[in-house]
Amino acid sequence: MAALLLVLLLFAVQSPPVPSRPVADTGTPSPPPSLSSDNGTTTHPNGTLQQLPQIIIIGVRKGGTRALIEMLSLHSEVAAAQNEVHFFDWESHFQKGLPWYLSQMPYAFPNQLTVEKTPAYFTSSKVPKRIHHMNPDIKLLLILRDPTERVLSDYTQIFYNRLQKHKHYQPIESVLVKDGEVNLGYKALNRSLYYVHMQNWLQYFPLESIHIVDGDELIRDPLPEMKKVERFLKLEPQISASNFYFNKTKGFYCLRDHGRERCLHDSKGRAHPHVAPVIMQKLYKFFHEPNKKFFELVGRTFNWK
Ligand SMILES: *[C@@H]1O[C@H](CO)[C@@H](O)[C@H](O)[C@H]1NC(C)=O
Ligand SMILES: *[C@@H]1O[C@H](CO)[C@@H](O)[C@H](O)[C@H]1NC(C)=O
Ligand SMILES: *[C@@H]1O[C@H](CO)[C@@H](O)[C@H](O)[C@H]1NC(C)=O
Ligand SMILES: *[C@@H]1O[C@H](CO)[C@@H](O)[C@H](O)[C@H]1NC(C)=O
Repeated sequence: MAALLLVLLLFAVQSPPVPSRPVADTGTPSPPPSLSSDNGTTTHPNGTLQQLPQIIIIGVRKGGTRALIEMLSLHSEVAAAQNEVHFFDWESHFQKGLPWYLSQMPYAFPNQLTVEKTPAYFTSSKVPKRIHHMNPDIKLLLILRDPTERVLSDYTQIFYNRLQKHKHYQPIESVLVKDGEVNLGYKALNRSLYYVHMQNWLQYFPLESIHIVDGDELIRDPLPEMKKVERFLKLEPQISASNFYFNKTKGFYCLRDHGRERCLHDSKGRAHPHVAPVIMQKLYKFFHEPNKKFFELVGRTFNWK
């Protein structure tokens, strides 16, 4: 991997500003179109460079994307973008083109893979095509949780945001149910219809390019899920039990990175609003069919209620 990236780096340095088709007779492997279609990588004197991501965490919102990227960053061969870039879903960003996207990437050593996460990508129907156009071989990570739990987290986040801004908010029951029926007009519900969004992705990417992380398992017991992620990304196995410790007060795992301990932000473990059991039952029942469709689509099941 390091050798390939070095070749790409050299190619980028040597290639003319307007990339032509790679020269065929040099005997060196040609770079993927993703890198020849922008104006190359930016090298810094300290040996790092910005590169387009080889990995994108595409979602889902409130699925545990922050935990996933933090845990992935424990690996020495991964460089993660700090912020959610929103390149492929926000027109104002997308119009700036790949050079802008590249400029948002972290400085990485040539042996590192770059990853960014923008949870809104998963549910935005125009994004799969755009990412495919940049790099059809990119590796995608999708982290999902029980769709009902996810809806409640989604509501909770919006609720707290509005509370902070002293804005009006609707009680959860009134957004979830309208006239006695589950309210399909509620966007947070739609985001949990995983099969609807997955279908869009599978039009552009084979299932083998999309690894699904079980977000409920990642929180309960992170190591086995992270081992699977390492294997999918073909990273040398590095993340180990010593990278995690259980914080009894918080009730979930925190990270240990070169002796530095850190827990995820407190909002990540925020309590959900109380929802009447009858409405919970309605939701579980509502998601039964969509979940089944999703399991069929991806050829595996999840332990969702
Ligand atoms: C290398 O330089 C970049 C750009 O100034 C900086 O952001 C990065 O932290 C540096 N990395 C190391 C390892 O020195
Ligand atoms: C390359 O990209 C940078 C932005 O990262 C831009 O400023 C520069 O003009 C581009 N160069 C060419 C030759 O397109
Ligand atoms: C859910 O969202 C998708 C993608 O944005 C859209 O195509 C679909 O019509 C929505 N479904 C409902 C029931 O609102
Ligand atoms: C455990 O969590 C509590 C509550 O958030 C926090 O105050 C404490 O610093 C954490 N301890 C460790 C060792 O991470």
